[in-house]
Amino acid sequence: MSVGVTSISLKSNDACWCGSGRKYKRCHKQSQAPLRPGRLSPTRPVPEGITRPDYADTGDPGDWEEPMIRPPEVIEAVRRASRAAAEVLAVVGAAVRPGITTDALDALAHAECIARGGYPSPLNYNGFPKSLCTSVNEVICHGIPDDRALVDGDIVNLDVTIFLDGVHGDTNATFLVGEVDEESRRLVAVTHECLLDGIAAVRPGRPISDIGAAIEARAHAGGYGVVRSFVGHGVARRFHGPPQVPHHFDPSATTIMRPGMTFTVEPMITLGTWRHLMWDDGWTAVTADKRRTAQFEHTLLVADSGAEILTLAD
Ligand code: MF3
Ligand code: CO
Ligand code: CO
Repeated sequence: MSVGVTSISLKSNDACWCGSGRKYKRCHKQSQAPLRPGRLSPTRPVPEGITRPDYADTGDPGDWEEPMIRPPEVIEAVRRASRAAAEVLAVVGAAVRPGITTDALDALAHAECIARGGYPSPLNYNGFPKSLCTSVNEVICHGIPDDRALVDGDIVNLDVTIFLDGVHGDTNATFLVGEVDEESRRLVAVTHECLLDGIAAVRPGRPISDIGAAIEARAHAGGYGVVRSFVGHGVARRFHGPPQVPHHFDPSATTIMRPGMTFTVEPMITLGTWRHLMWDDGWTAVTADKRRTAQFEHTLLVADSGAEILTLAD
């Protein structure tokens, strides 16, 4: 007889083996099939009247200078774009359910950005083919929406960025699909706490490495990993600009936080290794051990007293 996970033959509604008294499907059952690339739908058009970012046609965002301390009119624009991004994320998140494809979520995000007069920032950013990032289970970030239907027990991160009034607002959250096992629910909850701890570490006069120090302390206390290869970033007229915001403690992140900066904090937290592998599509980053990972993201403004979270819906 085999031992290990393959020997578990419990049915979904049986009592879990761990003695919790909960149904197996609500406790330790976890979908184990590794994710595979699916098929992409045709490119979604953006109406003429929507202002497009510089890379929309070429795919190349370039590398131009933008001051880290934003002028007041840029800050006001980032406020509006960020609020819109949060609204779109709420709408698309509410559509998450078993059976819906990530492509259908992309169609919804695309339409909701346009309905607010904005351009879905991911579309053709460095050639990204869709308007939303959908990262399922072991996908760390930048999952491409395709024809795979979400399955009961999955977790899925939806990352919405909108280009509105000449700037970007960027936010993401991880959603539970139907009944999700205990270990994954904990991962998602801890990841959200990591985001909040990182935000609480934002203070003018302090180095940006304080953010990662706070996130890492929370994650390591629970035995979780912190992804290093993808970081938070300045966001305003550029989708991704300085400063970089590591989510682990990186003493070389010496930029001093100053009022008027706008950047994201977006920790990616793992059940196992923090190392990643890249799919052949050049976008989809998965954990090297294929264990699950979660992420939450806000766009922040450094104010005199600390962080103001801009990606909140009304
Ligand atoms: N929204 C992602 C972030 O938080 C970036 C997505 S880039 C894309 O930085 F090209 F994949 F869309
Ligand atoms: Co971001
Ligand atoms: Co994002």
